[in-house]
Amino acid sequence: MSNDKLTSKPFEEVINNGPYPIRFPKMSELEQDEEWCEVLIDNKWTKVRFHDYTDVYSVPGLYETLFYRTLMCNSPNRVTNLLSDVLNEQNQKPQDLRVLDFGAGNGMEGEALQGLGIRNIVGVDIIPAAKEAAMRDRPWVYDKYLVADLTNLTAEQNRFLKEYKFNALTVVAALGFGDIPPLAFYNAYDFIELNGYVAFNIRSDFLKSGHESKFSKLIQHMLNEEILEIELYKRYQHRLNIAGEPIYYVAIIAKKLKELNESDVKSIS
Ligand SMILES: C[S@@+](CC[C@H](N)C(=O)[O-])C[C@H]1O[C@@H](n2cnc3c(N)ncnc32)[C@H](O)[C@@H]1O
Repeated sequence: MSNDKLTSKPFEEVINNGPYPIRFPKMSELEQDEEWCEVLIDNKWTKVRFHDYTDVYSVPGLYETLFYRTLMCNSPNRVTNLLSDVLNEQNQKPQDLRVLDFGAGNGMEGEALQGLGIRNIVGVDIIPAAKEAAMRDRPWVYDKYLVADLTNLTAEQNRFLKEYKFNALTVVAALGFGDIPPLAFYNAYDFIELNGYVAFNIRSDFLKSGHESKFSKLIQHMLNEEILEIELYKRYQHRLNIAGEPIYYVAIIAKKLKELNESDVKSIS
């Protein structure tokens, strides 16, 4: 987070939507991972890049004010409600699920899963600030929360995750834009039992055929080889961008039919 001298640049109107006034720069051409805003904290306008999660999480309530109250994100509830639809249809009780919430952040997806009646939820995120924020803001949500790099787990983390015998994986607002690499997704997938549920979302254009992203190729491979079977697929508005235009994502609720082959993943990565 930097207190730079951006106050002279043109900004949209100040938005008072929560504990901190926010203003967006008058730039409509920014890619999703380049977006930023200024936040008034202790009487100082402070620049915050949206994807600098450590900065966002370190200010209590900023993530919720920015993404949820202002930019109308509702992805944790959307993805979780779709998972609930599939569970209902398959006569599965939420309380029987043991969920690995990967890219858990400050716990908003975990909170939505709790709301469904799921009690065994383990969060994993790569940055310590995510766990600190989850423990600060939603300490009741996770059974356990690991700060871990799934491509480089310690022996103890690996043992814990194996022994938990997860039967569901959630990855919400954490794929694409170089966030979770295919190898980390593979490792998370590997911890899920066969016939377990996999619920995730991703920007809709990332899954279009011909899209060059590694994750797109990985998902195409998993579907072509019937490693993953889609139960429900929904395109929806993930949030607004700073120019007020909708950003569309797809939510996918799928079942794990087969294990993924590590060498296939490596050849894609
Ligand atoms: C936009 S947040 C989403 C948080 C939460 N799932 C939600 O829906 O509110 C994305 C999270 O993914 C995490 N992330 C990015 N790359 C990761 C990786 N390689 N391994 C684990 N977490 C990662 C980030 O640290 C961040 O907390």
